[in-house]
Amino acid sequence: MSTTTKAFPTGFLWGAATASYQIEGSPLAEGAGASIWHRFSHTPGRVTNGDTGDLACDHYRRWREDLALMQDLGLKAYRFSIAWGRLYPEGTGRLNPGGAAFYDRLVDGLLERGIEPVVTLYHWDLPAALDDRGGWLNPDIANWFADYATGAYRLLDGRVRKWVTLNEPWVVADGGYLHGVLAPGHRSPYEAPIASRNLMRAHGAGVAAYRAEGKHEVGLVVNLEPKVPASDAAADVAAAQRADAYMNRQYLDPAIHGTCPDELRQVFQDAWTDWPAAELAAIRAPIDFLGINYYSRGVTRHDPAQWPLAASTVPQPSSTYTDTGWEVCPAAFTAILRRVAAEYGNPAIYITENGSAFYDPPVATNGRIHDPLRTDYLRAHLGAVHDAIGAGVDVRGYFVWSLLDNYEWAHGYTKRFGIVHVDYATMTRTPKDSARFYRDVIAANAVPVSPG
Ligand code: BGC
Repeated sequence: MSTTTKAFPTGFLWGAATASYQIEGSPLAEGAGASIWHRFSHTPGRVTNGDTGDLACDHYRRWREDLALMQDLGLKAYRFSIAWGRLYPEGTGRLNPGGAAFYDRLVDGLLERGIEPVVTLYHWDLPAALDDRGGWLNPDIANWFADYATGAYRLLDGRVRKWVTLNEPWVVADGGYLHGVLAPGHRSPYEAPIASRNLMRAHGAGVAAYRAEGKHEVGLVVNLEPKVPASDAAADVAAAQRADAYMNRQYLDPAIHGTCPDELRQVFQDAWTDWPAAELAAIRAPIDFLGINYYSRGVTRHDPAQWPLAASTVPQPSSTYTDTGWEVCPAAFTAILRRVAAEYGNPAIYITENGSAFYDPPVATNGRIHDPLRTDYLRAHLGAVHDAIGAGVDVRGYFVWSLLDNYEWAHGYTKRFGIVHVDYATMTRTPKDSARFYRDVIAANAVPVSPG
């Protein structure tokens, strides 16, 4: 039995996170416009088992039940995303009252239960109608996004106090436009830097729109993965630097310093265009907080076969790996938080996602799902956040990914990240042991140091 605990600061915001396409289902209900994920998941060969988000966790219809689950866990906050096409079926123009009413009800339901809503505007489900006009490759998208954001702020800002412009621009550009494994499925070294630039222009425009409309806080969510050289060899050190520039600094630097990392010219060569100073000035519009998603680190070596980075991740024989093949490394979590504090002006930080996929059975036994690996991951990573706070990093809250098992993008339903199990045949929700653990953490505002 453990008696030692790591206490968190008073008022620490304990939450759980989800995203619209991953949980809602009913993608075309009540006048919603199709998204690029609807289109992508319905394209044969794109997603494992041909899984789609047509039903997902059926949250669109079961949201009341899900609010009750959140309340049972004692969540202080819930991070969800708005499906752009539910509010604006064509991406721009007329507001769809059916979609607006859904988020209206959800926000009211959260507030009635004392749970703070944290809203992400873009978690990857771009309206297909905008993709038809070039999507993230069309420079007009910054204005389209600002108009959509303004509509959402007007609808909910009196009640929502924390807004996120974009979730993980790196994944949108890398998966959607460089490697093509995520919607809209393009594979082009020319398109990826254009998409990144337009994503960050949209972020800046979304922040500016918030300053005109909103009264509370707006931030950006980035996924950070420390890149550690596999050896002292100069080539490996340079590969780790390139990988860091590409995944981490490509978005942090413009958002906070108004610069772009030099290494990107080397990575993209003639496909890279420098961002004009005026654009960078708009992109670095001050944010109220930085959201950080952390899952893993990457021990990196020089690898000319890997296009276009010439870098690859080296498996670590002594490490544990999750079901998505990600190395478990809580110490790297503390390290990246300390680095952000040191190099980016000690911003207010929320951990907007952290969690792990491990195998769980499709059906619960006697109302229980034992998931010791996920619980262990959670305990160790919460300890890492605590260590960072102890070192002076201004971390104000933590959102576990994810509340529910859900649609894990190109993996379909094969990877379970939830602390609450979903039986996809019956839609029954069962809090896993990790949910019970997290509930106790929230209640105590403290994390047990070792298994108790
Ligand atoms: C995303 C989530 C995703 C999770 C696990 C993050 O990159 O924001 O949507 O499910 O990681 O892959």
